[in-house]
Amino acid sequence: MSDSQDQNLDYDAEGGSVVDVHDAVRREKVLLPTGQEPLTFGLLILAAIVLILGAGYFGAYGNRFSDDIYVTSYYHPDARPAGKGGDTGGEELPWIDQWLAGGKKVYGNCAVCHQPNGGGLPGQFPPLTGSDWVSGGTERLGAIMLHGIQGPFTVNGQSYNGAMPAWNVLPDNQIAQVLTYIRHEFGGLADQPEAVVTVEMIKAARDKFAGHTATWTESELLAIPADAMLPGAEIDLQTGKPIGGDSGAAAQ
Ligand code: HEC
Repeated sequence: MSDSQDQNLDYDAEGGSVVDVHDAVRREKVLLPTGQEPLTFGLLILAAIVLILGAGYFGAYGNRFSDDIYVTSYYHPDARPAGKGGDTGGEELPWIDQWLAGGKKVYGNCAVCHQPNGGGLPGQFPPLTGSDWVSGGTERLGAIMLHGIQGPFTVNGQSYNGAMPAWNVLPDNQIAQVLTYIRHEFGGLADQPEAVVTVEMIKAARDKFAGHTATWTESELLAIPADAMLPGAEIDLQTGKPIGGDSGAAAQ
């Protein structure tokens, strides 16, 4: 008989004691039916690791089930649309913030050329930032917005030769909003009352330049005094109502 056969359990084998045989039987584990086997130790360890790492991640980033995970310092929700007779649900934003939010939306039309940051594209589209056309009188701005520009044009000492489209198809409030926005944002006039352009002023500009149908040339625009302001009441930035005025024509 070979060695390997010796180690096999064999009741008939010489010298196999009953005690040895029963020891062997007791030592072996009972085989449970498929599907009911106990977990292996490795799987338990793995589950523990997943649990510990998961809990750690949740603790670090989970924000404890708070609902402010999307609130960041650079997130500014758009102004709530002014509902008609509805529940406005909470506090109203100051008028100027709503006006600027509207202007920012309209500025989406301009950003393709003048860029979102107002910096323009060298040699192609002039910057609005630092431009006297933007921070100066509103009469020139109204003229530019309503009828556009073509031909050679100088901004901040750089010369351009493109075409600025006319925007007179936009409603008065959108023109007023976008001009307020660029004066406020790029014209260095943030929080200054003279940044504000109102519907009343745009109506005045339409009247004033009604006879002018072609796009402007630079020399025509330079003929408008640099500091000429469109007529209109000064506005209370909080309420949007004219300061000390009687008519409510300015806002919206
Ligand atoms: C298709 C490109 C284009 C778009 C869109 C455009 N502009 Fe212009 N804009 C120009 C060009 C080009 C000039 C310079 C005119 C020229 O070269 O004849 C100019 C000039 C101006 C100027 C005077 C110069 C300066 O840089 O200060 C203002 C103000 C201005 N644009 C405002 C606006 C606003 C506001 C809008 C959006 C409502 C707008 N533009 C949309 C191309 C564009």
